[in-house]
Amino acid sequence: MKNFVDVDTVRVPDNRCKIEETLNLSNFVLNEANKNHKPFHTLVLSTTDGNYVNSRVMVMRQFNSDERTIYFHTDFRSPKIHDIEFNKNASVIGYCSDLKTQIKLHGTIEVNYDNEITKNAWDNMSEFSRKSYTNEGVPSDTINYLDKKHYRNDGYNNFAVMIFTYTSLEFLFFLKHSGHIRARHTWDSDNILKSSWLFP
Ligand SMILES: Cc1cc2nc3c(=O)[nH]c(=O)nc-3n(C[C@H](O)[C@H](O)[C@H](O)COP(=O)(O)O)c2cc1C
Repeated sequence: MKNFVDVDTVRVPDNRCKIEETLNLSNFVLNEANKNHKPFHTLVLSTTDGNYVNSRVMVMRQFNSDERTIYFHTDFRSPKIHDIEFNKNASVIGYCSDLKTQIKLHGTIEVNYDNEITKNAWDNMSEFSRKSYTNEGVPSDTINYLDKKHYRNDGYNNFAVMIFTYTSLEFLFFLKHSGHIRARHTWDSDNILKSSWLFP
């Protein structure tokens, strides 16, 4: 453990660390975020409509480092779904100011609608969370009033689970005095991992 320096409770790499430690730390913080609402619980998901890149904050609902998946919940009617229908490639990025760590992921998104995955997620969702899907207005459509009473009962019809599977994970750690640490981990179609240090 001597290659690590402490930042509060999480141990982060210093500039003598081994490259696999950057992946282990990334998996650790993403896993913690998933379990305990810690940093990286909210991530920025970027998709494209072919003209613009569209980014938005999303809550991580599940993380699995073995499958390299992150689950997100969303409204099936939202523009991001149209983006994904157009192009399933997506990028996810998160930053923790306490850890001075950025994690950037590239991969693809599969949209689940009215299947076992959405039923299971819906059954485990609180009434409060379900309410976000009961709005009769389509997300991102313009409105000229702020009336929050426009709810319907069939929120499940608007509910989708997006499964993001990444093939690239980039770790960037800010070291004030000795330079940044940047590493990229990629997996090929046979799940073979290749890791490289990058100029920060
Ligand atoms: C803290 C925070 C968490 C959010 N979590 C989600 C989420 O889990 N799912 C979601 O669809 N939108 C979430 N949003 C709203 C999105 O950022 C975005 O505004 C919305 O999904 C519409 O995106 P779109 O028009 O690009 O499809 C969240 C916003 C904030 C500020």
